[in-house]
Amino acid sequence: MSITTPTPTPTRTPTPTPTPQKTGSAHRRLFVLNRSRVTSEVLAEIEELEEGWIEPRIAELTARSEPLVSRAQWIAHLEALLAEERAGGPAGKYLAEEATREEFTCVVREFALDGLTEAQNFFPAIPRLPIKAQMAVMRVLIDEFGCGNLQQAHSQLYRDLLAELGLPQETESFLDTTGDETFQFLNVFYWLTQRAPDVEYFLGGLAYLEASIPDAFQVQARACARLGIANGRYYTEHLHIDTFHMKEMQQAVKEYEAVHGLDPTKVWIGAQLLSGLIGDAFDAAVQRAREAV
Ligand SMILES: [Fe+2]
Ligand SMILES: [Fe+2]
Repeated sequence: MSITTPTPTPTRTPTPTPTPQKTGSAHRRLFVLNRSRVTSEVLAEIEELEEGWIEPRIAELTARSEPLVSRAQWIAHLEALLAEERAGGPAGKYLAEEATREEFTCVVREFALDGLTEAQNFFPAIPRLPIKAQMAVMRVLIDEFGCGNLQQAHSQLYRDLLAELGLPQETESFLDTTGDETFQFLNVFYWLTQRAPDVEYFLGGLAYLEASIPDAFQVQARACARLGIANGRYYTEHLHIDTFHMKEMQQAVKEYEAVHGLDPTKVWIGAQLLSGLIGDAFDAAVQRAREAV
C-alpha cells in the first residue's frame, strides 16, 4: 500500500487525497499504526506508507526551495509566510463570520483527533535535540499538558469543547469521520520526530505551527464568541500561550545551531510542509462542514 505524491505548485503544496474519504484509507491506517505498539511488522508498514507519501513531498519541497544560508534568513522567510497567511482565506472568513453552530461543530469534530492527542507525538524529538534545545521544547510541552494540571491541559480544553457540542470524548469515535487531509496533518509529526533524517525539519514545522496559531485561531475564537459557545477557551488559550511557544521554538533552533550547526533550508522546508498540510486540512474541514449541514 502506498500514498501518491502531490503535484507541485508554485505556492502551497496541495495535499492529494488519492484514497477515498472513508474508513480504511491509507492515511487513516497510518495514523492507527503510528499510535500502535511498534513491532517490526508495524514499522515496516509505516515506512512503506511514508515512503509513498512524505518522502516525495520532502523531495518536492527541497527541489523548489531556494537554499537558505543563515538562521536570520529562515526567520525572514517564516515572517513573510506568516504575513501572507495573516490575511486569511475564504474558509476562515466563512467560519468566523457565517458558519452555523452545526457547521462549526463539524469542524470541531474534524480536528478532534488533533485536540485529543495534542502534543503527544512531539516527545520522540526530545532525545534528538541538544540539551538546551530540549529544555525549550519541554517548556512548550509542559504548557501543552497544563503544567500537570488536567483542567489546563490542551486536550482537556478540547474535551470540554467536545462535550458542549455534544460530541464524543474518545479518539476511537473519530477515526471514521476524519478526512485524509487531517490525517496527513496528524501523521506528519510522527514522521518528523521519529523518522525524518534530520530533526531540523521538526524544529521548522513546530516553529511554524506555534507562530501561526495566534493568528489562525482568531477564526475559531471569533466563531465561538459569535455562536455563544462557552468552551472556546481551547482557542483563546492558544492565542495567548503560543505567543510564548513561538519564541521557545526559535530558541530551540538557536540552541540546536549552537551545538550542531544548522541547515536553515531544512528548517524552512519543515515550515512549508506544515503550512501546506494544516492549510489543506482546514480548508477541507470547512468545505466538508458546509456540504454536510
Ligand atoms: Fe496546544
Ligand atoms: Fe503551543
